[in-house]
Amino acid sequence: MSDSLFRKKSIEKIVADSAAGLADGHGGTGLRKVLGVRDLTFMGIAAVIGAGIFSTIGTAAFNGGPGIVFLFMITAVTCGFSALCYAEFASRVPIAGSAYTYAYVSFGELIAWIIGWALILEYAIGNIVVAISWSGYFNNLLEGFHIGLPGWLATNPSNAKAGYAEAMKGLANGQVLETLTKNAKMGYDAILHAPVIAGWKVIINLPALIIVFLITVLAYIGIKESKKTTNFMVIFKIIVIVFIIAIGFFYVDTKNWDPFLPNGFGGVLAGVSAVFYAYIGFDAISTTAEECKNPQRDLPRGMIYSLLICTVLYILIALVLTGMVRYSELKVDDPLAYVFEKLHMNKIGYLISVSAVVATTSVLLVFQLGQPRIWMSMSRDGLLPKRFSKVHPKFHTPSFATIVTGFMVGIPALFVSSSTMTDLTSIGTLFAFVLVCFGVLVLPKIARIKGSSAFQLPYFNGKYLIPAIVMLTSYLFRTRISDALTNLSSEGHQEILFLVFMFIAIITAIKSFIGSYSVIPVIGALSCLYLMIEIPAISWLWFFAWMGLGLTIYFLYGRKRSKLSNFTK
Ligand code: ALA
Repeated sequence: MSDSLFRKKSIEKIVADSAAGLADGHGGTGLRKVLGVRDLTFMGIAAVIGAGIFSTIGTAAFNGGPGIVFLFMITAVTCGFSALCYAEFASRVPIAGSAYTYAYVSFGELIAWIIGWALILEYAIGNIVVAISWSGYFNNLLEGFHIGLPGWLATNPSNAKAGYAEAMKGLANGQVLETLTKNAKMGYDAILHAPVIAGWKVIINLPALIIVFLITVLAYIGIKESKKTTNFMVIFKIIVIVFIIAIGFFYVDTKNWDPFLPNGFGGVLAGVSAVFYAYIGFDAISTTAEECKNPQRDLPRGMIYSLLICTVLYILIALVLTGMVRYSELKVDDPLAYVFEKLHMNKIGYLISVSAVVATTSVLLVFQLGQPRIWMSMSRDGLLPKRFSKVHPKFHTPSFATIVTGFMVGIPALFVSSSTMTDLTSIGTLFAFVLVCFGVLVLPKIARIKGSSAFQLPYFNGKYLIPAIVMLTSYLFRTRISDALTNLSSEGHQEILFLVFMFIAIITAIKSFIGSYSVIPVIGALSCLYLMIEIPAISWLWFFAWMGLGLTIYFLYGRKRSKLSNFTK
């Protein structure tokens, strides 16, 4: 026991307790061990393929052109490095809680709390974005049946205002209502017909709330039921995506791939956040460690297999999408459905909308399962109230934490718009990835048992390789570095973030030279850090505000009540 900010849990004790059935090191677990490698791979795919590939890819392809496939490859490699580091931890610390638990054993309590708090951005805030996206596709489906929800029940106030302004502009320019865009029509309808309560126009995204409610009920009832539902949804979405790719290839006109990089590599890099968002999720399965039959073998495999499968599908989709129409037409919310409708295959377009609804439902489910399990771990450690780790006697799920997650996702989904939330999700996730990668470096070395099926991260000595990569990067970025340094006072915050990144990269290179660090975790951490600093600086302010709130809660509550604290008996 200690009062140090960096007091740690020992891996040996956690693993020994786990083997004895006391998975948290402080008390018992009541979770069911039902997940195998196939279920985990499916869960990974369930969490990854969703709003990203069905919508954000559109703007990314518009900016980057067909060359966006390079970005899918680069992001896959970056995520791959992180996945390997997650896999190493999952094999060494097979306990629910994901990056939070991993940080607890490698960096100690304070960083663990910070990570746990940041993961709320990935899971709960990320799910707000997915719920909003689900609602958009669901409305598409309803329209297919000629059922239109009133605008004020199907959008949020900020989108309604933007749509209304667009509609007014269009009407002033002589357009008629029918020719306006979908968003403009919805905003116009919402603002004109919203009921007024106490002087406020009521404009809410009701379908987003309803789907969060239904998913919360499913997550509450049980992991087994959730597993079956997930497996079904994943099979369906993979079949549809393979079908889209197969049909799409017949309609590819290679002229559309020329030029391949219409806006240069800068245009491709503009899609970093969008493409990264599409990959988020493979890490979420590490929250189910205590529900796995053999977590040390199966969790790493599940993560890596799901990432590989999604990468192949994403690259093929990007090629088909940019081959079927000109990249300049792809700035739409539903690019996959759009290209098929454009080529008069409306039925396939409709099937894609069905598939998008299913895909986003599965993403929602996995994250809605993940968040309570992270809170459960934090509560077991004393950092959150005990109720968060209460396991339902009949359903064997963390019931209270599941309900709180439902509220935390469902209520904001009614009102907020998704863009800032997407950035926050990406920052929070990348932050977790960076710490997991660096965390591998401080894990105690252990002798592996020969013939063991547990995953082991390969060690490549980075003594010379890492400094060489950092030097090459500095050379490639030389103009940006010198511009940022010479005009520091007039450059925006983005360039300050960039200089901070370069500083960390150089320090890491020096430390790698001295300490012969392993290549995979270091390059994983630096590449995630690079993606992070490409996210708009304004979103960083929200991120810091969120982390400030988290630290306040830690010092007022968790620090004293921690199981590692001297204050507790
Ligand atoms: N990768 C997940 C999605 O695209 C978050 O929906």
